[in-house]
Amino acid sequence: MRIGKHEVPYPLIQGGMAVRVSGHRLAGNVARCGGIGLIASAGIALNAPGFTGDNYFAIEPQALKDELAKAYEIAPDGVIGTNCMVAVTDYAELIKASCEGGAKLIVSGAGLPLNLPGLTADWPDVALVPIVSSIKAAELIARKWHKAYDRMPDAVVVEDPDTAGGHLGDKLENIGTGQYDQYATVRGVKAYFRDTWNLDIPIVAAGGVWDRVDLQNALQQGADGVQMGTRFVCTEECDAADAFKQAYLDCKEEDIGLIMSPAGLPGRALVANVEAIRERDLEMTPTCPTGCLRKCAYKSEGERFCIVHALDRAQRGDIETGLVFCGTNAWKATRIETVAEIFDELFHD
Ligand SMILES: Cc1cc2nc3c(=O)[nH]c(=O)nc-3n(C[C@H](O)[C@H](O)[C@H](O)COP(=O)(O)O)c2cc1C
Repeated sequence: MRIGKHEVPYPLIQGGMAVRVSGHRLAGNVARCGGIGLIASAGIALNAPGFTGDNYFAIEPQALKDELAKAYEIAPDGVIGTNCMVAVTDYAELIKASCEGGAKLIVSGAGLPLNLPGLTADWPDVALVPIVSSIKAAELIARKWHKAYDRMPDAVVVEDPDTAGGHLGDKLENIGTGQYDQYATVRGVKAYFRDTWNLDIPIVAAGGVWDRVDLQNALQQGADGVQMGTRFVCTEECDAADAFKQAYLDCKEEDIGLIMSPAGLPGRALVANVEAIRERDLEMTPTCPTGCLRKCAYKSEGERFCIVHALDRAQRGDIETGLVFCGTNAWKATRIETVAEIFDELFHD
């Protein structure tokens, strides 16, 4: 798969997973195995050396650059990029840090990345990949990028709100109703770029891809590649604590559900402990400690919970009061495997 100037042997992106579920170890090892590894940038400051509690924005860009450098130690020639969420306050700084830190691509969602080409203008070789969940969103991005920046996406990730983990790009009431058709959206986005812009860019399907059958189905249905998140959590190399991985190993299908994130988007997670998450936040950070999101119900109204700390706690292994994001397939995890084993199963005879 070729995205912009960057080519990988296998058509697989490991999805960015915040907070620090996909850090340098996971991204570096995926890149070393011949896929594209993504470091999730959101909240990366919270575990950075030198974090004092009140210098979040000051140290976050450098923390991301350090993480990229460590990933390149694992895969010096690999294709490694970042995942940057439009919804975060320091989006522009994280995009710049990604470019300065050597990210070969930036995958960006949780909002429409309408100004992304402007922020990366000095780094034309960095491939730009928006995440969408509708043809309309892809059209909006393409029109704006063309008009304002004379630039087009180098690939598009189409994320399925009915299966993917983390924040989802549809209204809560629409999710799971059967009205969303993932591969019709993939083919529609593909046709839009081909017919309107005469562009053949990779369209990458994200959400619900677990094994080789799912991968082959995605390719047969018109995707050029897949982005996978949940499958990579139960790997030795995943950057989350063992207890986070164990929560996947222990969960049942009915433990996975939808929450309303304070960011104003629905999210898919293990949902049993939502009350405990809020109680812990009210105890530890009764008012918003950092302002990490531009729009946040916890920041403005004290509603729901502090998502960056809830994700951070889970990543460190506090799954009682931490938020464990996961896709609908998390219950399928039965053992801790290696990234190489996943690549073997997916791609090798
Ligand atoms: C623990 C976890 C954290 C995630 N965090 C992010 C994130 O920070 N940014 C983002 O764009 N997507 C995030 N996602 C979505 C994944 O990158 C990926 O697109 C999605 O999970 C694909 O579906 P799958 O998990 O069924 O493979 C997250 C998913 C999980 C499971």
